[in-house]
Amino acid sequence: MADKDGMKIAKDYHIDKPFAKQGGFYVKGMSDVDWGMKARLANIFQPESGHTVMLAFDHGYFMGSTSGLERLDIVIPTLAEHIDVLMGTRGAIRTCIPASTGKAVALRVSCGSSILDEDLSHEIIGVSIEDAVRMNASCMAVQTFIGADGEKESLDNLCKTVDAGLKYGIPTMGVVAVGKQMERTSRFFKLATRILPELGAHIVKTYYCEDFEEITSACPVPIVVAGGKKLPEDEALTMCYKAISEGAAGVDMGRNIFQSTDPIAMVQAVRMVVHKNATDKEAYEFFLDTKKE
Ligand code: 5RP
Repeated sequence: MADKDGMKIAKDYHIDKPFAKQGGFYVKGMSDVDWGMKARLANIFQPESGHTVMLAFDHGYFMGSTSGLERLDIVIPTLAEHIDVLMGTRGAIRTCIPASTGKAVALRVSCGSSILDEDLSHEIIGVSIEDAVRMNASCMAVQTFIGADGEKESLDNLCKTVDAGLKYGIPTMGVVAVGKQMERTSRFFKLATRILPELGAHIVKTYYCEDFEEITSACPVPIVVAGGKKLPEDEALTMCYKAISEGAAGVDMGRNIFQSTDPIAMVQAVRMVVHKNATDKEAYEFFLDTKKE
């Protein structure tokens, strides 16, 4: 292991230069993975735009019933036609989402804490690879806690999930959680979003932050951004627009969609930004024109 002393601060991100190793496959860093994994990644990242709209509704795995998700069976199917990926737990998907929905699944496979827990960073792998295959998962999502007590366990969970997924051609999405010793700054997100792909994650989910272009430039796999806490719709769309403009390959939004005053109008507005090159202002105008009074 290189010693930590004398480390020079990274600064040459070559932001103006596209990622070099594209090969024949459009998903960043994935030109050498197996055919089946490419097919699953193509279910996630739409070939026309190379981007994805994931609807995150896995909050219940540690928060229980969340505002806006009280009835998964009602809320999620009404939004499904406007998204590319269902990001949820096996329990939520099996019980509440029709198998005929025809959307890719980002399966939440890590778990182990509830909001009653002081420290959420000690998770386990809670879903077997056999059940991920059974669920027809297009990727598996593992929470990682860089800068928290459970850092090592979470990275072990990530590596074990990557290894299991490689056996069956199922990609792994490393989810960046904000550990106790972390702040929502580019310094910490740069660290986390580089460690995860170095350990084999095929997709990274993180949060938008300042210097985001440096983060996407330095990350050799596609990054999707979580929406985070509920914002006014215009601010959420601006965050989405900035993230895409600065190199994100999509979003994995939950609360900013299902807690919106009009979730269907909001998910369509997000889709305009992610897939149709719409600006945040154009998308917000669409939202205002479309939302139910
Ligand atoms: C919850 C999660 C969510 O998938 C992630 O935070 C995205 O949801 P939101 O946009 O509501 O933040 O990891 O544990």
